[in-house]
Amino acid sequence: MADIISFTINGTKYDIDPSNTTVGPTTRLVSFIRSNANLTGTKTMCMEGGCGACLVQAISVDPVSGQSVIRSVNACLVPVLSCNGWNINTVESLGNRKVGYNAIQQRLVGFGGTQCGYCSSGMVMNMFALQQARGETLTMQQIEDNYDGNLCRCTGFRPILDAMKSFAI
Ligand code: FES
Repeated sequence: MADIISFTINGTKYDIDPSNTTVGPTTRLVSFIRSNANLTGTKTMCMEGGCGACLVQAISVDPVSGQSVIRSVNACLVPVLSCNGWNINTVESLGNRKVGYNAIQQRLVGFGGTQCGYCSSGMVMNMFALQQARGETLTMQQIEDNYDGNLCRCTGFRPILDAMKSFAI
């Protein structure tokens, strides 16, 4: 029997037995999030790591240092069977209409950066992962550099970047 692959998404634990599941080596994390966990806030577009629509936050342990590592990942590039031990957070974990939106979501709306909305969850999760990983003392340049992997199909980058850069010190 193959080892069980365990991870959490928004605090819910998933255990996958690779020998007894439709989830296989080619199943990507974004497909699992949308189809198995039924969390459709995470979007897909290019499916090759180029647009950032599928960004989620992942917390894992560095096997060398033993330190916890917080980062954003392109869920379209990650085989779900490689997520053992990860704690994954999607945009649904930040806020919603019922419980209220978090500061990043509110800021994006306030600056008029939502537009068609398709890239919004990736934009928000990228900022959330950056803040969680590096603290909230970020410069405008650090924030802008963090967005070189996020595409907006409406091409309305200015209000999105203005919203995120408003978190700079
Ligand atoms: Fe993952 Fe484009 S869908 S980067």
